[in-house]
Amino acid sequence: MASEAVCSKCGGTGFVIVERATVSGAQPCDCRFQGMASRRESDAQIPPLYRNASFENFMAADNRDLRNKMSTVKRFADEFPNEDKPGLLLIGEPGTGKTHLAVAALRRILEKGFECLFCDYQNLLERIRSGYDPASNSSDREAYRDALDTEVLLLDDLGAHRVTDWVEDTITSIITARCNHRKPLIATTNLPDADAGSAVYEKTALGSQYRTALRDRIGDRARSRLFEMCTVIRMPLVEDYRIRKQRVF
Ligand SMILES: Nc1ncnc2c1ncn2[C@@H]1O[C@H](COP(=O)(O)OP(=O)(O)OP(=O)(O)O)[C@@H](O)[C@H]1O
Ligand SMILES: [Mg+2]
Ligand SMILES: [Zn+2]
Repeated sequence: MASEAVCSKCGGTGFVIVERATVSGAQPCDCRFQGMASRRESDAQIPPLYRNASFENFMAADNRDLRNKMSTVKRFADEFPNEDKPGLLLIGEPGTGKTHLAVAALRRILEKGFECLFCDYQNLLERIRSGYDPASNSSDREAYRDALDTEVLLLDDLGAHRVTDWVEDTITSIITARCNHRKPLIATTNLPDADAGSAVYEKTALGSQYRTALRDRIGDRARSRLFEMCTVIRMPLVEDYRIRKQRVF
């Protein structure tokens, strides 16, 4: 098992003695803050697939609209926290880079020293639900509290679940509580929303067909609060990056 290297400045005590003109005294060593930063990073639970996602490796050179959207997300992270609009909502088709950009923002916010948590929406709901089972483990029981308490929550793939009253109530209560306390929330969704400029009807051979929209999955109350607290970003219609990457030229 790898053991952690002992800090050469403080010998692992966490304190260094600082000599001053009149007095000398103990002061916290820098290594404490490094330890805190790496703990904050692992506590954020960013999935391995996105651990390296950053603004630097987001490719948008060939699409001005995509570049502008990336700049807006970057500005949000650089200027974080924003009292007026504490959240960010990324709406768009699958594979357009929503989770990548949301994680890039989250990592920048982590570097500023905020406590962050990445939550996959479906996984969060499952954990909350199983938390009510007396046989569940304690981490599932804490899932709901963590989603409320963490300083910055990234809720990935919002609405990716069939609707039940239970789901709607749970998600409304998380969003309402965070909104009432002005607690930042970054959310991504591939559900369309007419007010974010998405087409809620799609053309088919038989005419047009209604697509399940954000309000159908999370309810009007949660949606309304989300729009109130978030800068809303509609991703441009670019080709699914996952497919683009697989293509053999
Ligand atoms: N412009 C881009 N530059 C570099 N990598 C990208 C870009 N867009 C997407 N990717 C990568 O492609 C993969 C899919 O992107 P991502 O997961 O962010 O899409 P998404 O919009 O969240 O899709 P979904 O709606 O299915 O969740 C990721 O590995 C991501 O890092
Ligand atoms: Mg995603
Ligand atoms: Zn030290």
